[in-house]
Amino acid sequence: MALQISPSILNSDFANLESELARIADADWAHVDVMDNHFVPNLTLGLPVVEALAKISPVPIDTHLMIEDPDRWAPGYAEAGAASVTFHAEAAAAPVRLARELRRLGARAGLALKPATPVEPFLDLLPELDMLLVMTVEPGFGGQTFLDVTLPKIRRARRAIRDSGLDVWLQVDGGVTTETIERAADAGADVFVAGSAVYGAPDAAAQIALLRERAAA
Ligand code: DX5
Ligand code: ZN
Repeated sequence: MALQISPSILNSDFANLESELARIADADWAHVDVMDNHFVPNLTLGLPVVEALAKISPVPIDTHLMIEDPDRWAPGYAEAGAASVTFHAEAAAAPVRLARELRRLGARAGLALKPATPVEPFLDLLPELDMLLVMTVEPGFGGQTFLDVTLPKIRRARRAIRDSGLDVWLQVDGGVTTETIERAADAGADVFVAGSAVYGAPDAAAQIALLRERAAA
């Protein structure tokens, strides 16, 4: 699978989301961070906003649910038009049932791991998943520094995916810049979320192109 870039709109201008999405039309996805102020100490947006964005986005919506009780809420994001729905392993009561439900609704199912959550207990779930997200910062805020301590986990996840023969994507999220993306790609990530690196750049399209180039280097 080719390397993919999923800019996070978290640090974009929330008063102008339509034009902010237009800035990333060259990307593969638009990463939308849903936070509930319980799973993480921050609050962003929810179902009605995702539903509205899915209708006008030039690229498919990649939702990252940093919420409690995803078993109850995540299917709604698939129904709202999100093409990919990622929920946290630490929050899901029945991840297999939930992943199956998301796929049944036509979405790609993703499982996210916080930096201190080991990947090994979840490797048997790979056949149920379309994507594994290894968080490279503690979730909750944009603009944090990439945590190099997560690199061995990315490597182990890549090895397990390769051994399984499954087409599961490996996403990294947090602190991804034109510099850190090389380390993440080298460790085996193939889908890169970048928030401040893209929205903080004067020319988002040029920055996306540069991120792609560095990831492939
Ligand atoms: C953090 C979010 C990220 C965030 C990334 O909890 O999940 O998607 O927007 O922002 P940067 O790229 O600035 O670290
Ligand atoms: Zn995210």
